[in-house]
Amino acid sequence: MRSEIQEVLISAEQIGEKCRELGTTITNEYDGKFPLLIGVLKGALPFMADLTRAIDTHVEIDFMDVSSYGNKMRSSGEVKIVKDLDASVEGRDVLIIEDIIDSGLTLSYLVNLLRHRGANSVKIVTLLDKPEGRKVDIVPDLAGFTVPDEFVVGYGLDFAERYRNLPYIGILKPEVYQGS
Ligand code: PRP
Ligand code: MN
Ligand code: MG
Repeated sequence: MRSEIQEVLISAEQIGEKCRELGTTITNEYDGKFPLLIGVLKGALPFMADLTRAIDTHVEIDFMDVSSYGNKMRSSGEVKIVKDLDASVEGRDVLIIEDIIDSGLTLSYLVNLLRHRGANSVKIVTLLDKPEGRKVDIVPDLAGFTVPDEFVVGYGLDFAERYRNLPYIGILKPEVYQGS
């Protein structure tokens, strides 16, 4: 599998260090507030697992699975909820946990939805930020790394459902996705 990766962009060690850093920040900011951490499936799974274990105060965890509506040619920003939350967000301090913000369409929909449902606060925590991909004006409250406009995979990020299990973030060789 390693032969399909052009370059390791962020090592497992760097990711681990960043999770500890972000975990400390969240601990300090949310101590005693019992925040609700919402992982966005499937990409956020490894980050959610590592980040939550780096937080040293009580948190509740929940998951949402969303997918973009319609064809990919026209990103409307409308997303379909495949799996909704178990918890109510009313009055809660919510942190949405994502692996990457690219166009920002998924997150802008989610932020609006959770505010509409009466969350007390909604913040975005993303491991990766790809600002060059942005189609809507949205900025994460906490971001681990800024990445270039390349096809990145690993640590939850997939290409055709593969590579999510890589322990690092890598750039996929163009020959792997070209012609597919
Ligand atoms: C990917 C990624 C983010 C979203 C970012 O998820 O995990 O959730 O796209 O893209 P955006 O900023 O352009 O909306 P995807 O919809 O591929 O589902 P997955 O997490 O199951 O891979
Ligand atoms: Mn995702
Ligand atoms: Mg995906």
